[in-house]
Amino acid sequence: MLRSKIAGIGHYVPENVVTNDDLTKVMETSDEWIQERTGIQERRYGTKHKETTSTMGTAAAKIAIERAGIQKEDIDFIIFATLSPDYYFPGSGVLLQRELGITNTEIGALDIRNQCSGFIYGLSIADQFIKTGMYKNILLVGAEMHSMGLEFTTKGRNVTVIFGDGAGAVVLQPTENENQGVLTTKLHSDGTYAEKLAMITPGSHGGYHFDKMGIDMDFGWTDEQYGEIFMNHHQIDNNMIYPVMEGQFVFKLAVKKFPEVIMEALQTAGLEVGDIDMLIPHQANLRIAQFVQRTLKLSDDQVYNNIQKYGNTTAASIPIALCEAWEQGKIKEGDLVCLAAFGSGFTWGSALIRW
Ligand code: COA
Repeated sequence: MLRSKIAGIGHYVPENVVTNDDLTKVMETSDEWIQERTGIQERRYGTKHKETTSTMGTAAAKIAIERAGIQKEDIDFIIFATLSPDYYFPGSGVLLQRELGITNTEIGALDIRNQCSGFIYGLSIADQFIKTGMYKNILLVGAEMHSMGLEFTTKGRNVTVIFGDGAGAVVLQPTENENQGVLTTKLHSDGTYAEKLAMITPGSHGGYHFDKMGIDMDFGWTDEQYGEIFMNHHQIDNNMIYPVMEGQFVFKLAVKKFPEVIMEALQTAGLEVGDIDMLIPHQANLRIAQFVQRTLKLSDDQVYNNIQKYGNTTAASIPIALCEAWEQGKIKEGDLVCLAAFGSGFTWGSALIRW
């Protein structure tokens, strides 16, 4: 049976380091508050006119392609996961194709909208295409340029201090080696709490979901303001165009769903927690990762975290962390690697990979 293996991996983060102290210049916050609640010390922000979500994804992809020992022309499918695309449409997959200089139009480019679990959703899709024999070199990218869409005011501080920019990429190839590759992926979703962590403007909802669900986003919208779709001056003038999050609600669900979905994958593969050599949790919050580590009774060298340096880079966080852990020799051939994510949607998922 064909399996998918990670044949090459790369990551890219912008040079521009933004510390917690830097953020105190534009909002009421402190290094102490941010580190205590999230573990984050600094994050990277891309530079306008130089970096975008798709260019950072391209930089990571070039490294992954080189390490896979293939040429860009060998890529037969692109999957791009992001919540901060360069354009509302078209998606970032085609922009990455253009940036990479891939002129072959025989290939497809798919964009994924699954926020923090985007990379795991993408991995699961790639895995199915490889297993059926449809594609042989799938480029899977997770990238975010959050800094262009955050609210740099005290009102937006609970969200803004968490997020950072960056990108990670892998090339997936088929293997017949039974002791290598993706063993299983698990995907979940629950739309009940869609607005608990969301960016709702620009959008075409026209107030529908708020009316139906009785949601008060505290925006004080009138019917007239709902009437204009996507985005209007009222929304911009009142800072309604930024992500919103009920942090504690997200936290409570995340610490429950991470262990659940990891155990589910292990059960399917007939493995146990003790078999995990490296857990790469989505870097949402160091406190969440530590909670999961304690729940599963994993040792420090069984978990890799780098949120301290990069913040939460959403779809990019798992491939960046995976790449760093591999570069540092913390993941070796034959190791059992577990990926797990939870985020907006809510969507969550896990993957087990024999490296
Ligand atoms: N700096 C200083 N104070 C801040 C702040 C900031 N950056 N952000 C919020 N606060 C304040 C709040 O205004 C509130 O003040 P009040 O008590 O005067 O009203 C107080 O801190 C507590 O806010 P709360 O939201 O309850 O804090 P918290 O302990 O839940 O921590 C998060 C906030 C966001 C760090 C935490 O809830 C979290 O990490 N949640 C999960 C988020 C996540 O993982 N999101 C990504 C999912 S993929």
